[in-house]
Amino acid sequence: MAPSTSRLKILMCTSEAVPYAKTGGLADAVSALALALAKLGHEVRIIMPRYYGVNREKLEKLEGALGVPMGGGEQWSAVYAAKMPAKSGASRGNPVQVYFIDHEGFFGRDGIYGNAFEPDFLDNSRRFAFFCRSCFQLCRKIDWYPDVMHAHDWPAALVPVFLKYGERRGISSETGSFADTVSILTIHNLGYQGIYGKDNFSFTSLGWDVFYQAGLDDWNMMNLLKGGINCAGKINTVSPNYARETLSPGHGFRLDGALRYRGSDYSGILNGIDTATWNPRRDPYLPAPYAADDMAGKAKAKEALQRKFGLREDPEVPVIGMICRLTEQKGIGELFGPAYGSAWSICRDMNLQFAFLGSGETWAEHEIRSLSSRLPNFKAHIGYSEELSHLIEGGADFFLMPSRYEPCGLNQMYSLAYGTLPIVRNTGGLADTVQNYNQDTGEGTGFLFDDLSPGSIYNTVGWAVWAWYNRKSDIEAMRIRGMKKNFSWHKSALEYQSLYKSALNP
Ligand code: ADP
Ligand code: GLC
Repeated sequence: MAPSTSRLKILMCTSEAVPYAKTGGLADAVSALALALAKLGHEVRIIMPRYYGVNREKLEKLEGALGVPMGGGEQWSAVYAAKMPAKSGASRGNPVQVYFIDHEGFFGRDGIYGNAFEPDFLDNSRRFAFFCRSCFQLCRKIDWYPDVMHAHDWPAALVPVFLKYGERRGISSETGSFADTVSILTIHNLGYQGIYGKDNFSFTSLGWDVFYQAGLDDWNMMNLLKGGINCAGKINTVSPNYARETLSPGHGFRLDGALRYRGSDYSGILNGIDTATWNPRRDPYLPAPYAADDMAGKAKAKEALQRKFGLREDPEVPVIGMICRLTEQKGIGELFGPAYGSAWSICRDMNLQFAFLGSGETWAEHEIRSLSSRLPNFKAHIGYSEELSHLIEGGADFFLMPSRYEPCGLNQMYSLAYGTLPIVRNTGGLADTVQNYNQDTGEGTGFLFDDLSPGSIYNTVGWAVWAWYNRKSDIEAMRIRGMKKNFSWHKSALEYQSLYKSALNP
């Protein structure tokens, strides 16, 4: 019997969630969505691994151990729990309970997916297969069976596979089992699929017939995301435009066929932003609050940013901000590639300043350090910093995101909320959230370009800088327009709620 959909029991299965573990937007998205769904009245819980970075002293230990049948034996772990902190300023919904699977062998090390020496841990398929199976065992342990198991990205993609081929089959609903549970798979990034040697599959303890029926086979390798796509009740990605793009080979990362096959079960739901954390009216990292009707605080943020980054303190010169993981996805080859990228010529030719924050590929870190030492108007912090990311969003005039592809992108939405005009490539969620400047009418909220090349980035930054010096009133109007946009998670949470309902009542 389908459950009442007014109050659903939802289990978010994820490898990242703020404030506990984060490498990118996945962590922001999962936690904010969980809180927004809880506010709609649902009972939302999150399950994730307990990495070394998560301090056990701040968590509550559940009694007894968790046994997870894997690899023909049993893996044992401890379980910890905590209540997800609800931000001040956000009106509270039901509390969101977070469970942490604490397995020393799999998660007792530095790094979430890898470290500097081993970027993708050799045992990742086992680590996350174990995690996916433990989601079910945890429910048994706490005697709480969700209506919806919502898996995020490849690390949780075996959840739909286990549900379809192990946990759900042949079990009657009377037994308080997973018989009525449905699974949802959200793809935050199709570029990461979890492809490993298929010999690792035996560790799941599923039969080899499942390997083929679930479509895990990928040219004689095991593709975890592909299995999730084939088995989930519904699949979605994080913007409507990226959903369309991924149905074609150009953006489908070889899974466009699998996605087309799921056809009407696949859709795009735009992420929101956590407006309690990303709000210039009450951002503790900014020197002064500001809002669309009182922008004085933004000038103070710009001054603070220039000072912090060692740039000349000058309100007249436009500051371009950028925050990103240094990976190919973000267009870093075209921007920072040695003797090719456009950052050098942009800073040499134009009267602007550039403030960069990020880390990632070593060659790019070297190039960025080198630019920093050679150019007085280019300054960078290599590393991760919440504080600086808020200061850049608040203090910069423009925000650059020349992404090769972008499933949704959060920073351009943070930028709009902070009156910082995005300069973005016309792709994925960037195209769904930024409207191009029309210099005849003054309309728009940012600057877009189609072609990913050093020349296009150069020209579009040049266009934005031209508007800064020559169309001041358009710039001011665009800022206000962007700040008035509503990117709250409430709207996205309503769409997820409909998705859950359609999976529960097909
Ligand atoms: P992705 O998830 O592909 O990295 P998003 O734009 O969705 O891209 O989200 C990136 C998130 O990570 C944003 O919240 C951004 O501010 C944050 N972030 C990325 N790099 C850094 C960094 N070096 N310091 C602080 N925050 C960062
Ligand atoms: C991924 C994507 C990014 C998206 C984020 C949250 O990391 O690269 O575009 O915003 O997930 O969904």
